Amino acid sequence: MSLLYRLKVRVLKTPRGNLWWRKRSARHGAPVGAYADLADYVRRYAPGNSFVDIGCMWGVNGEFSFIAEEAGASAVKGVDVFGPTPEFEAKRQERKSAVEFVLGDCIQPETIARIGPADVVLCAGVLYHLPAPYDLLVALRQICRKTLILRTSTIPEIAGLPNAAVFFPMLTAEHRKLWNLSSLGLLHQEGISNAFNPEQGYGNWFWGLTPSALRSMVETAGFRVEQVATEAFAQTLICTPVDTVFHHDLPNATQAQKLAAEISASGIARPA
Ligand SMILES: C[S@@+](CC[C@H](N)C(=O)[O-])C[C@H]1O[C@@H](n2cnc3c(N)ncnc32)[C@H](O)[C@@H]1O
Repeated sequence: MSLLYRLKVRVLKTPRGNLWWRKRSARHGAPVGAYADLADYVRRYAPGNSFVDIGCMWGVNGEFSFIAEEAGASAVKGVDVFGPTPEFEAKRQERKSAVEFVLGDCIQPETIARIGPADVVLCAGVLYHLPAPYDLLVALRQICRKTLILRTSTIPEIAGLPNAAVFFPMLTAEHRKLWNLSSLGLLHQEGISNAFNPEQGYGNWFWGLTPSALRSMVETAGFRVEQVATEAFAQTLICTPVDTVFHHDLPNATQAQKLAAEISASGIARPA
C-alpha cells in the first residue's frame, strides 16, 4: 500500500480532514451522507410498505423499526443475532407496537424463510461484520421486493486499484492502526482496536471494502444502485432489486457426469 494512500487515510481520520473532505465532495456535487440521515430514509420509503430492519438491535434497540411503523409501514420486523433488549420490549409495550422481533442469523436460509419477503429492507452497520459479505447481499436480495437501504463502513478508494478491499483479521497491531477510527469518535472496533477475537463472532470487523468494491458486490448480488450518499469511511446506498444475473446451476448426477465427459473429451481442463 502506497505511502500516499496511508497519508490520505490518516488525514481523513482527523476531524478537520474529514470535514474538509465532506465540503469538497459536496462542492463537487456528490451527495454526502451521515448516519443521522437513516431515519429520514426510513420515513421516506416505509409508508404503505412492509419493512424489515436487518441488524436492528445494537445501540438502537429496534428504533428504526419503530420509526417505520410510526411512518405507516404495513408490517414491520426487526432481525438480529441477539435480543430483544429490555429497551426494545419497553418501547414495544409503550407504543402498543406490532413490530415483530426475529432472532436469527440473516444469512441462514431458515432465518430468511422466517423473515419472508419485505418491500423495504434496511441493513445498516452489518456488512463489514460478516466474513462473507456477499452472502449477506444475496440474502438481502432474496428478502427485498422494492427498496434496499444499505449503509456500511468502507475504506477510502485506492487510486488505480478499483474494487480493492482489506481483510482485517490477522493484521498486526501496527497494520490495524491505520483502520482505527477512534479519532472520529468510534469507541471500539472489535478486531481493529484489539486483535481479531474469534469468540466475538460477527462482532469483529472483517472487511474494509472500498466504495467501488461495495458497489460491484451489490450489483453482482442483483441490485441496481439508485443513489449513493458518500462519506470518507461509510456509504449509504439506495438500491432496487433487479433480475439476478449471477447464478450457478448445480446439475443433477446424470447431467454432471455428461458434463464431465464433455469437458474431458474437449481437453479444455488443464491444471491452472
Ligand atoms: C453495528 S450494529 C448496527 C446496529 C444498527 N443497525 C445501526 O445501524 O445503528 C450491527 C448489528 O447487526 C447485528 N448482526 C450482525 N450480524 C448479523 C447477522 N448475521 N444477522 C442478523 N443480525 C446481525 C448485530 O448483532 C448488531 O445488532
